[in-house]
Amino acid sequence: MARSILLNDEPVDSVAAYAAAGGGGALAVLDRSGPAEVIRTIRDSGLRGRGGAGFPTGVKWSGLAAADADRKFVVCNAAEGEPGTFKDRWLMRTNPYQLLEGLVLAGLSVGAERAYIGIKEKFTPEIERLTAAIDEMDGAGLLGGVPIEVVLGPDDYLFGEEKGLLEVIEGRDPLPRLYPPYVTGLFSEGDDANPALVNNVETLSNVPHIVRNGADWFRSFGTEDTPGTMVFSVGGDVRREGVVELEMGTPLSFLLYVIGQGFEAGRRPKLITSGVSNRPLTLGDLDVPMDFGSLAAIGSGLGSGGFTAYDDTVCVAQVGAALSAFLYRGSCGQCPPCKLGSETITERFTRLTIGGGDIAAIEDIAAWVLRVTDSNRCGLGAGQQALARGILDGFPDDLAHHVGGDACHSDRTVAAPVIEDWEPAEGRFLYA
Ligand SMILES: Cc1cc2nc3c(=O)[nH]c(=O)nc-3n(C[C@H](O)[C@H](O)[C@H](O)COP(=O)(O)O)c2cc1C
Ligand code: SF4
Repeated sequence: MARSILLNDEPVDSVAAYAAAGGGGALAVLDRSGPAEVIRTIRDSGLRGRGGAGFPTGVKWSGLAAADADRKFVVCNAAEGEPGTFKDRWLMRTNPYQLLEGLVLAGLSVGAERAYIGIKEKFTPEIERLTAAIDEMDGAGLLGGVPIEVVLGPDDYLFGEEKGLLEVIEGRDPLPRLYPPYVTGLFSEGDDANPALVNNVETLSNVPHIVRNGADWFRSFGTEDTPGTMVFSVGGDVRREGVVELEMGTPLSFLLYVIGQGFEAGRRPKLITSGVSNRPLTLGDLDVPMDFGSLAAIGSGLGSGGFTAYDDTVCVAQVGAALSAFLYRGSCGQCPPCKLGSETITERFTRLTIGGGDIAAIEDIAAWVLRVTDSNRCGLGAGQQALARGILDGFPDDLAHHVGGDACHSDRTVAAPVIEDWEPAEGRFLYA
């Protein structure tokens, strides 16, 4: 039977229901054993950040706890901007209490004076759910004295980048600053860096379960490389789109064929993305176990667990153009190679699809792949590099079709799969 940590059969709709299921108990553990022990448990559990990079959460927390600073902050990243992903919104809708308990545990463990939740202003149901849950938890005495502020942000990809997120919390546009949150935190002045801990919604949602049940219990889920579960999103050309919690290490084929129910008769997957910033996967990658290490070992990435599958009716140059265009629009331009590179890569992929393609277009993409990350402040340029290189290396025959000026053979239109909502009963995402 599938085992889960984060998603229940029914949404947890009150703090009383949360408490009845053991919720709130992790704060008592913290009271008993102290912050250092809680941080050790998070370290020992092997929890890795679910925002995309898979950084070990306990290591992050230890660093913040050890920082010599009068003022510290914790921040929950609820911006969820990765195309193909809907997990954080689903977690906030179905159980905001575990996230809030995790945020409070993080704040008390590292010694933060205040917690922020950065969330897109357009995520209305989640904002309502969160603010009501904060009031309920406060009323039940479950916030441990840590003030929580919900900060509404713009519908920009960079709002989810942690340095852009801190800018928005300080009242500015999400232009990533130079230094990471543990170096320059919130409201820093002069020598006061005020370091901040930034964690993703799903990362924090795991925390109370780990603190309550222990590191070994958490490690009984998933793999050695990535213990635990992940709330995966599966969309695109699969028969059934949706959000599901699975143990880390589950093969990608299970997500596509069992959860996603496969593809139309006679069709098979051609290109599968795990967000816009990783090497796209191919038919040969279907057996890969979904955990951070296994995806990295094949030169791709797990990202935020949002997989979008395109079947063999798609033109990969169209996918390259659509996803690069998303990155180009998202790029803020503070680092010229990122903006110029993503613009040129988008233009060249587009040129290939409309019938003006030649070998020079592919050479231009390959040249920008080498330079698009130059002097970058954030990871967006690296995402463009991984995406474009992955398409060049993974689908040479498809691209060769366009060299010589042949237009696209596919009559599909492809857009970045930005998910606005999910209709579970119909098994469909609503896309922007
Ligand atoms: C361009 C860009 C966009 C990002 N968007 C998100 C996002 O929407 N949500 C998120 O949690 N992390 C996002 N990240 C990752 C964050 O910068 C950060 O690594 C993460 O919030 C850390 O939390 P974690 O350690 O719990 O994963 C993004 C990163 C980049 C480079
Ligand atoms: S890498 Fe790109 S998106 Fe990131 S700060 Fe530089 S220009 Fe902006």
